[in-house]
Amino acid sequence: MSNVVVPEVVLSSGARMPLIGMGGAATNLPPPDVLTSIFLDAIEVGYRHFDTAACYGSEEALGRAVAEALDRGLVKRRGDIFITTKLWCADAHPGLVLPALKKSLQGLGLEYVDLYLIHLPIRVKEGTEGFDFKGKMLPFDVKGTWEAMEECSKLGLAKSIGVSNFGTKKLSQILMHATIPPAVNQVEMNAGWQQGKLREYCKENGIHVSAWSPLGANGTSWGSSVVMESHVLKDIAIARGKTVAQVALRWIHEQGASVIVKSFNKERMKENLQILDWELSQEHSDKIKLRIPQRRGFSGEAFVSEDGPYKSLDELWDGDC
Ligand SMILES: NC(=O)c1ccc[n+]([C@@H]2O[C@H](COP(=O)([O-])OP(=O)(O)OC[C@H]3O[C@@H](n4cnc5c(N)ncnc54)[C@H](OP(=O)(O)O)[C@@H]3O)[C@@H](O)[C@H]2O)c1
Ligand SMILES: *[C@@H]1O[C@H](CO)[C@@H](O)[C@H](O)[C@H]1NC(C)=O
Repeated sequence: MSNVVVPEVVLSSGARMPLIGMGGAATNLPPPDVLTSIFLDAIEVGYRHFDTAACYGSEEALGRAVAEALDRGLVKRRGDIFITTKLWCADAHPGLVLPALKKSLQGLGLEYVDLYLIHLPIRVKEGTEGFDFKGKMLPFDVKGTWEAMEECSKLGLAKSIGVSNFGTKKLSQILMHATIPPAVNQVEMNAGWQQGKLREYCKENGIHVSAWSPLGANGTSWGSSVVMESHVLKDIAIARGKTVAQVALRWIHEQGASVIVKSFNKERMKENLQILDWELSQEHSDKIKLRIPQRRGFSGEAFVSEDGPYKSLDELWDGDC
């Protein structure tokens, strides 16, 4: 079987991004050298887009995989691979954005990233370690943080810039002031949390949507089995001779979003790429749209408190559904 060639989307920045990306987050990351060989497997089977973040702990291993892929001739040029990384909440202070990107670049061993995202619309006190933000949250500075992201772009250190986990209201605040609009909003999106309203807004405003947890993150500490155990998806998978994962990913692909799917298993990596040469019937699409109960997998409850900047889930997510 020859390698799959993944189609690309042209972002508002003019850059091209492959529509299937490999995730770089896991509950328990394997040791760095193992992780590097996993990313090399992914390159071997056809992945050209990789998603990491300062807080994932996978930047170094990914960077080594890119270097080795170039050495081994798996890819010809750095430009053949699309790398995304993200600004963590403790660095979501205007003055810390550029240093944080430089640190990520150093870890990755790269001159530039293809896409730099604000990981969450959340700022915590400088130096905060870990994921417990209790009592450490500060109001998020949309305008100042985005200006610093624009600086990263102008310096050529990030070819495209964007956001992650932003709702419609926060996006509109960025668009009000931006000289460079966000190219991407990477959000939780899958058959069990379809994001209709947010996707409509992004489409109207030329912002590409990338879907994280496209399989509902089954098997991780933050995920659930709502996608992988969905009877609606299972029935369609049987009818089409596909796997549930393939049906779930194909549905996202047909909505025009890119999928960021994580598998560290080479067979499942291949399986997840086999979504390009067939389509869902209208009837099956409608079933997915109408018959799967909708619920956010990642609630965001931990970021909401009476004395914090977000006093309700609606404030955090802008009431989007
Ligand atoms: N921006 C954000 O805030 C944010 C949040 C969450 C995630 N993300 C990004 O999105 C990526 C993907 O999301 P995710 O990791 O949360 O969840 P996901 O891709 O929906 O699911 C990953 C889980 O599904 C399993 N899996 C993969 N392919 C499968 C298949 N064909 N059949 C059965 N199981 C399969 C994986 O196990 P195996 O590895 O064993 O195959 C893993 O346990 C992350 O890695 C990260 O890069 C971003
Ligand atoms: C979902 O995750 C559970 C727990 O890790 C696992 O036992 C199960 O096989 C997974 N389901 C699928 C369909 O991959």
